[in-house]
Amino acid sequence: MAYPKSFIEEIKARNNIVETIGRYVDLKRAGSNMIGNCPFHSERTPSFTVFSDNYHCFGCGAGGDVITFTMKIENLDYRGAIELLAQRAGISVPSDDGFIPQKKEILSRDRGLLMNKLAARHFYENLIKDPEAQPARDYIMSRKIDGATMRRFGMGFAKNSFDDLLKFLTSQGFTKEEIKECFLCGISQKGNYYDIFRNRIMIPIIDTNGNIVAFGGRVMDDSKPKYLNSSDTPVFKKSKHLFAMNFAKSAVLGDKGSDEGVSGAVTDMSGKLIMCEGYMDVIALHQAGFTNAVATLGTAITGEHARYVARYAKTVYLAYDSDGAGKNATQKAINLLSEVGIDAKVISMVGAKDPDEYIKKFGKAAFARLLDGSVGQIDYRLSGILDKYNMEISEEKERAVLECCTMLSEIFPEYRREIYIARLCDVTKVSKQSVEIAIRRLEKKKSSAKNVEFTRNAIDEMRRFNDKINPDAMKYPKACELEERILGILMLYPEFIEKIKDKLSAEHFLTEFNRSVYTKLLELHESDRFDLSYLNESFSPEQMGRISEIVAKRRLVTVNGEKALTQATELLIAEKEGADLKSPGVDFMDRIKASKKKHGVSDKKE
Ligand code: UTP
Ligand code: MN
Repeated sequence: MAYPKSFIEEIKARNNIVETIGRYVDLKRAGSNMIGNCPFHSERTPSFTVFSDNYHCFGCGAGGDVITFTMKIENLDYRGAIELLAQRAGISVPSDDGFIPQKKEILSRDRGLLMNKLAARHFYENLIKDPEAQPARDYIMSRKIDGATMRRFGMGFAKNSFDDLLKFLTSQGFTKEEIKECFLCGISQKGNYYDIFRNRIMIPIIDTNGNIVAFGGRVMDDSKPKYLNSSDTPVFKKSKHLFAMNFAKSAVLGDKGSDEGVSGAVTDMSGKLIMCEGYMDVIALHQAGFTNAVATLGTAITGEHARYVARYAKTVYLAYDSDGAGKNATQKAINLLSEVGIDAKVISMVGAKDPDEYIKKFGKAAFARLLDGSVGQIDYRLSGILDKYNMEISEEKERAVLECCTMLSEIFPEYRREIYIARLCDVTKVSKQSVEIAIRRLEKKKSSAKNVEFTRNAIDEMRRFNDKINPDAMKYPKACELEERILGILMLYPEFIEKIKDKLSAEHFLTEFNRSVYTKLLELHESDRFDLSYLNESFSPEQMGRISEIVAKRRLVTVNGEKALTQATELLIAEKEGADLKSPGVDFMDRIKASKKKHGVSDKKE
């Protein structure tokens, strides 16, 4: 059973695919389609294409329809994506209709968000009113956080109790199972439920739609862990969210009123983000008027974060701690941000360990000057390499030059590279000519290495080696190709299913993945609800990518008629009969052996 077809059609009609994807990806027109940088892998030249009713990335193979896209980008299951799209379209989801969830879902997105909201309110009331919260109020004061900032961030207090929140949330109608699913309580070995956040200052994490998705809680003394963060829940994915992005978004998009006229501050924050390590850094920066500050949540920056940030910002100032760990994190962030075309700049703070401390010690105008004086990433990397080596020792100097040349060989355009070559020559006193020759040599070496890799990839693809979605493809390359031809035609012309279904059964398919797609197509046909969107219900976004590729491939060729279908069907049936006749255990490796023998290639025995 599934949602009625009319409902699915309405969901798709009211959530235009270009507009929906356009919320997350900067799309530009290219002929009759739209293209943009793929949000699912890092790239600088667009290979992500949006067609009239589906999308496909020619770089990473992601693809599907508006539902698949929503599942993947919002990290939701089929039902969650449908609920979100229905909400955006202002239509209600049909009640049950015999819908059987794939796996039992303990907590829906809606209830999860509601629970977080109520919990945040409860923590807030504790902080404001509860006598027990006096130390928490004192602590917040001691960190120089004013009342307005405290309220703006929705800070709160979790009491030193094992059931304060549990009691409150159960009184609001939530089950303990649900509360546990939202990471607000745990369960002991004896089977007792207990509050996870105890005696901590609570900081809600709010997404860009204004929903509270998680919490961070800080102790008020030296106990460990200093911060406790929500784990991933049905409404939260750590590797994706940024703290304070809900506020920073409007600053970075250039909405007015975010800057408080800080003298000498970056008056224009549009397209610019400040990335810090910690919660308190962000809070202090916002309080000082830098409302474009964000932080990752107790994790290092990921590629997913970088792609997310690239939707909004062109420049990112990295304001990580000035210790060794901060420097490593800076280097990692530079790499990830550069990969998505962001201009990363590094702020170096002297005399303070982090932005929070810096602002308190030197004031906001001083921090604004740091932003102005931030060094570009290439200078930063160059200094990083040069500082590592002792220039008085020739061997070390040699290594430093080589390492710098390697880094510079990746800098384009050439005039940009030349600026840094000049600096390198200045510091090392090596001639410009030798540096340029060295860089050219490195480039050559790399491009031939790339060629080798490219050829290997092409061969692998031909052999369908390492196909994770349909591992059987390697074993039955020919059958797989025929199956895909058949599936592609059937998805383009569903009316052919009626004609072919008696002749071709699912058992004729040799590869498991294609067989499961065919089975599902038959099922949809029988239920009279033929619409490819229903495939999202049974297949993961990655599998949907393959399915959309199968259709996309058929769109590129003109022979898709009944004749092509019949022919492919007959060939597939023959392949299947051939495979059945062979003794079990005859697989790909045996075929290779047979083929080698045929071509007179000897099989060396050791
Ligand atoms: P820091 O240890 O640098 O703390 O952790 P901080 O941000 O300066 O915090 P304050 O000023 O002492 O309050 C940086 C970030 O790493 C994560 C948090 O996101 C923190 O803000 N972290 C740190 C944790 O998640 N858990 C921890 O136990 C410690
Ligand atoms: Mn700090």
